[in-house]
Amino acid sequence: MIEARDLTKVYGLPERRALPVLREAGTGSRRVAVEEAGGFLAADGVTFGLGRGEFFVIMGLSGSGKSTVLRMINRLVEPTSGSLHIDGTDVVGMKPDELRTLRNRTISMVFQHFALFPHRTIRQNAAYGLHVRGVAAKERLERADSALQRVGLGKRGDAYPHELSGGMKQRVGLARAFATDAPILLMDEPFSALDPLIRRDMQDLLLQLQNDDQRTIVFVTHDLNEAMRLGDHIMMMKDGSVVQTGTGPEIISSPADDYVRDFVTDVDRSRVLPAESIMRAPLLTARRDESPAAVLARLEGGEANGVYVLDAGDRILGVARDGAVAKAVHDGRPDLTECIVDEYHSVPRHTPIVEFCHLAGRHTVPVAVVDGDGRLLGVVPRAAILSALASPAVNQAPSRER
Ligand SMILES: Nc1ncnc2c1ncn2[C@@H]1O[C@H](COP(=O)(O)OP(=O)(O)OP(=O)(O)O)[C@@H](O)[C@H]1O
Ligand SMILES: [Mg+2]
Repeated sequence: MIEARDLTKVYGLPERRALPVLREAGTGSRRVAVEEAGGFLAADGVTFGLGRGEFFVIMGLSGSGKSTVLRMINRLVEPTSGSLHIDGTDVVGMKPDELRTLRNRTISMVFQHFALFPHRTIRQNAAYGLHVRGVAAKERLERADSALQRVGLGKRGDAYPHELSGGMKQRVGLARAFATDAPILLMDEPFSALDPLIRRDMQDLLLQLQNDDQRTIVFVTHDLNEAMRLGDHIMMMKDGSVVQTGTGPEIISSPADDYVRDFVTDVDRSRVLPAESIMRAPLLTARRDESPAAVLARLEGGEANGVYVLDAGDRILGVARDGAVAKAVHDGRPDLTECIVDEYHSVPRHTPIVEFCHLAGRHTVPVAVVDGDGRLLGVVPRAAILSALASPAVNQAPSRER
């Protein structure tokens, strides 16, 4: 959907001077060369790609070039060199009218300080993006109302911005972006000015809107916790360059350098690591129609006190504890049917650790991680939780894509 290759931005020098400087810098520091020539290299060979429906986060300290990269996507900032394609169309080569269409139809942008018009109602403000897109007045207001409904401001359409709190104003900004049908949303630190609780609410709201709409989002933040909560992939920038791109768990488990490691230290792992990123393959499982004696032998060999019993499709039927299996052997039962009890906890694969860590150790079997159909994907023993939360850098690649 969006393919950026070697995007580079030099501020303060005309292109005809910047390009030779970049070329001649050769293997030396392009940044230094540009500064010696009187310019500033804000983005240096930035390459990334994202697919339709992806939530992509650009993350880095102040001045690392995040906004510059974001704004090159709709050419609010003109790239000095490099290429950019959206849906296969070359954006850098677009003529003014094509660029206008791109900005008005394909891309919707949300800024940190949503510029709400003080003398227009909330409804009119939410309808603004549609106005620009030439949607008829009646439809504009209907769509604005439904977007306001989605952000929880359905009853406030007639209010004016000064009557709303900061968090509510940000909601109007989201409503404005989501009222349009732009497939791409660019968001530059939209929640940075909010206090932490409201910020979390807004993140949840955005995730919910995104879940329903599946737009392609590029989101800038300097908060790694926020990046981890929201992003499918995160691109870490430093001094205009990309230092690492990966999923949240990938970045946490193997930070590329000290710069990234510093961010990672501040992350609340329990909130950002999903169950699937720390699960292990189950040591033992059993089928309902197995002989209790065979299962008991495996339980002894594996030094376990219980085992997940699965159906033919790997869905969890329940748990058989060693005592019950021994009794079934003693009673001469043909299979495990009578041993199966409901004593386990299962969580969907994306569940953050914080939501299930208190369940670890409650049962004879570890917490189960299941897919949407209830199939067993893996288990999370208590030790896995402890080591994930404790270690600064577990050098273990997550087993699956999110
Ligand atoms: N128009 C400009 N002219 C000259 N330098 C600029 C211009 N815009 C940005 N810069 C410089 O480029 C660098 C990158 O800026 P950019 O706004 O992309 O950073 P950022 O990562 O978004 O930072 P922040 O988190 O503070 O928003 C900064 O050092 C900034 O001072
Ligand atoms: Mg910025």
